[in-house]
Amino acid sequence: MFQSKIAGMGYYVPKNVYTNNDLTRFMDTSDEWIQERTGIKERRYADRLEETTTTMAVEAAKIAIERAKTTAQEIDFIIFATLSPDYYFPGCGVLLQREMGMKEIGALDIRNQCSGFVYALSIADQFIKTGMYKNILVVGSEKQSFAMDYSTRGRSVSVIFGDGAGAVVVQPTTEEGKGILSTHLHADGADAEKLALYYPGASAGKWLENKPNWPDKELGDIFMTPEMLEDGSVTAHMDGQAVFKKAVVKFPEVIAEALQKNNLQTGDIDMLIPHQANLRISQYVQKTLGLSDDQVFNNIQKYGNTTAASVPIALCEAWEQGKIKDGDLVCLAAFGAGFTWGSALIRW
Ligand code: ACO
Repeated sequence: MFQSKIAGMGYYVPKNVYTNNDLTRFMDTSDEWIQERTGIKERRYADRLEETTTTMAVEAAKIAIERAKTTAQEIDFIIFATLSPDYYFPGCGVLLQREMGMKEIGALDIRNQCSGFVYALSIADQFIKTGMYKNILVVGSEKQSFAMDYSTRGRSVSVIFGDGAGAVVVQPTTEEGKGILSTHLHADGADAEKLALYYPGASAGKWLENKPNWPDKELGDIFMTPEMLEDGSVTAHMDGQAVFKKAVVKFPEVIAEALQKNNLQTGDIDMLIPHQANLRISQYVQKTLGLSDDQVFNNIQKYGNTTAASVPIALCEAWEQGKIKDGDLVCLAAFGAGFTWGSALIRW
């Protein structure tokens, strides 16, 4: 059985910076409210027309592929995590494959929201371990700015999220004790509707039928009307307090599970890269685990919550800043809609 490693990483964030003060142009909010509750100071928004989830992923992937000393032609499988795909179908994996001129390799889209990248990395790890593939491109990319409610009504959700992409190349390694040590994945659908976007979906009628402008027809025609856009029926819903309560339990639990599996302690972690959900959640997790400031990396202040892209962007940025060195123990952890959560322990 082969061991896998992250051989190269890259990330891309759009040029357009929106500070908290910029958002006050659209909604009744303030820099103070947003920073106090989330730690976010600014976020990036993709160009409305020129940039998509796929184009940002391509930019991140090019860097990851070059750093892994390979080429797009040599990639033998794509795993693409996103909740904001360019199309409802097909997925972004095939679009990335087309844009990068790759061979007719397999492409898999993962729909596990904020945990998507950790799920995708875990799948890549299994494919490398069995010897099925040798050069897997794993991507997390999101263009969330196009589907937010930027009015005062949607402000508790829209201020949190941003756009961006991160990518890694996963390859086999022969270095003893190095690479991905273990991955751990979990889900609990009991609270699926506490963080959800109901539309477009086959059960959209269930959520929208009582809305005044629901198109009441015998068959089909469940499409987005201007009225549904107007009344906020078709943007994401979040019970923020329910998310907070579950996240601060499940993050430490799944990190502890990874450490236990490898007979390691929290003190052995050189760098924890938590999904950048909310700075308050990361700080709570850090305190619960008794980790010091230099054991945890956060960049939500600059980019907001980029969902599936947040872990690979943070991982790459921490590495570029020299905060991850050869031999370090790196822990990735994520929690998101579903609810889903997971961790990966890596000896760098
Ligand atoms: N600006 C100003 N005021 C606001 C804003 C805003 N952007 N959003 C909400 N408010 C107001 C509300 O209208 C309300 O006012 P009221 O008391 O006069 O009625 C008040 O602030 C409190 O509103 P809540 O919706 O209860 O806000 P809460 O205090 O719960 O904070 C938040 C919302 C920050 C989302 C919080 O619940 C939280 O930290 N949740 C954790 C979930 C999270 O971070 N999710 C991230 C994405 S999910 C993930 O990645 C897993």
